[in-house]
Amino acid sequence: MNKTPRHVAIIMDGNGRWAQKRMLPRHIGHIKGAANLREVVKACFTRGIECLTVFAFSTENWRRPPDEVALLFDLFAQYLNKEVEKLSQQGGRLRIIGDRSAFPLELQQEMQRVEAATAHNQKLQLTVAINYGGKWDILQAAKNWQIAHPYQNVEQITVAELDPYLSTAGLPDPDLLIRTGGESRLSNFMIWQCAYTELYFSSEYWPDFNAKSLDDAIDGYAKRVRRFGKTDEQVMKISARSSQH
Ligand code: FPP
Repeated sequence: MNKTPRHVAIIMDGNGRWAQKRMLPRHIGHIKGAANLREVVKACFTRGIECLTVFAFSTENWRRPPDEVALLFDLFAQYLNKEVEKLSQQGGRLRIIGDRSAFPLELQQEMQRVEAATAHNQKLQLTVAINYGGKWDILQAAKNWQIAHPYQNVEQITVAELDPYLSTAGLPDPDLLIRTGGESRLSNFMIWQCAYTELYFSSEYWPDFNAKSLDDAIDGYAKRVRRFGKTDEQVMKISARSSQH
């Protein structure tokens, strides 16, 4: 059975501490962090991971000093500008999730442009969550469901019916969520989509998290038994059946 996760989600934490440990200003940590994202994306291509979703800016990150917020947006704009062509040449599709209304119009247009330009690519779906929060995602899905079904009672809504209104519509739920930087929490990242996701916490700061670290996370994932609420016995029967085919 193939144990490579289809969808890996990453909370890229620890840029600031990486810089502080080296007596450098925090923004250098973010620059290193953006460079590291390139390396990890490359590693995902070679490992056959189909979807990578990264948390670049949360709805709570607005509380940071304004110059740090501005730098993160700059890095993001540069990423769109410089990286997307390379990503596309390798067969990568870029998608952005989060509340875009807070961004300058030019940046919103650029986001639309790169999404359209890479929409046909199928090898790797890179999703960048920016001004994203899991609670925001669930709320906007519920509101949009109601708009699309004005005459339906909200009590009739099912989990499967809400899925297409989440910002991640069309993506499988993450199989593996990695958080770097030593903290062990979800911080409002894809809380709906990660209901059955395997969690992996690394003490490495994000700029240090390399292809070898990714392999360690995947190895750890491969050893886990995913039960999805079933018993061990049921799961063993299913995997014995699938290995006969
Ligand atoms: C957390 O580190 C990281 C962020 C809030 C931003 C992540 C951004 C990048 C990796 C670079 C830009 C992204 C793209 C898509 C180009 P932290 O500042 O919370 O670190 P700390 O916990 O050590 O302070």
